[in-house]
Amino acid sequence: MTTTEQPASLISTLPGHYYTDPAVFALEQAHVFEDMWFCVVRSSDLPTPGSFRKVQVGRESVLVVRSRDGGLRAFLNVCRHRGAQICTEDSGAVKRAFQCPYHAWTYDLDGKLIAAPNLTKMPDVDRVQYGLVPVHLREWLGYAWVCLATEPPSFEDDVVGAVTERLGDVESIDRYELDSLTVGRRITYDVKANWKLIIENFMECYHCATIHPELTEVLPEFADGYAAQFFVGHGAEFGKEVQGFTVDGGEGFDKLPGVAEDQDRRYYAITVRPTVFVNLVPDHVVFHRMFPVAEDRTIVECDWLYSRDVVESGRDVSRSVELFHRVNEQDFAACERTQPAMSSRAYANGGVLVPSEHHIGAFHEWLTQRLSG
Ligand code: FES
Ligand code: FE
Repeated sequence: MTTTEQPASLISTLPGHYYTDPAVFALEQAHVFEDMWFCVVRSSDLPTPGSFRKVQVGRESVLVVRSRDGGLRAFLNVCRHRGAQICTEDSGAVKRAFQCPYHAWTYDLDGKLIAAPNLTKMPDVDRVQYGLVPVHLREWLGYAWVCLATEPPSFEDDVVGAVTERLGDVESIDRYELDSLTVGRRITYDVKANWKLIIENFMECYHCATIHPELTEVLPEFADGYAAQFFVGHGAEFGKEVQGFTVDGGEGFDKLPGVAEDQDRRYYAITVRPTVFVNLVPDHVVFHRMFPVAEDRTIVECDWLYSRDVVESGRDVSRSVELFHRVNEQDFAACERTQPAMSSRAYANGGVLVPSEHHIGAFHEWLTQRLSG
């Protein structure tokens, strides 16, 4: 046996090149990020008409904007005249319209072309037809999700379905009232690793005992290494002495009002493919969005969401934030340690999936099917 062969009885992970090959990443951009519902912004980040945020979805730059009627719209960030990027800032606010910096074509907040130098002399330029190209947008859990596909997949099946499949029903997440929570802290991580290493890491608990000392203190069952948190409806129970989901297990905040008794003192983790992780605890929610930017680099934006009262009263959220911030740093360091080895000949045929990681095997199956389709 050469060093790269696995014994037949063990299931292999994806081969190393899936994590390093720009051609695989290009396929993922086309068949995953651009074809699925992709979570882009917290709706409250765009508070007033004209507030916008520019985000990267697959190969496209997308502009998400609050319109005059109060709703959110999304467009490709490309001028219809000669293709200049309309907006180069990551976020901001315009008064009434977006003006292209090249020849000053101007688009209103609904994307309609409203002005262009000498346009009156050009007959038959339809202002809607030559407006910004719209992108499908849905709001759920207080976030905007966009889809670049001409015919998007069912939001209910793909996004809501992922949550209900994990929790057993949609009411279980509704009770946390995510859309009414306030961002108490946001941390953006620039992770030098392929997005799939991050997702696979999130989906397993095999590493918890090794790299998450604080988390396993609060959630003792994680020390066993089994991904019990992925059984339908199962929430990991806080340790007996633990008062709250904080870095030292000390007291947190009051339970969110809708959270049921059987959800109290429990942690639920949900993966919504392709790029969202949601963590529910009684007094707050930790919400991750990934933005894969290259085969070996992923930006992760992580929000800690609390009740409005907690944030507005200025209460100190730092001990609560610190727990998952440490978990993030520990996880991302592990992913970054793994990334360089993906191009080693030792990993040419992949590594090993231990039996408790069958759901990661299912993720690989799902991915390879999407890429071949
Ligand atoms: Fe935008 Fe010409 S490219 S106005
Ligand atoms: Fe982890």
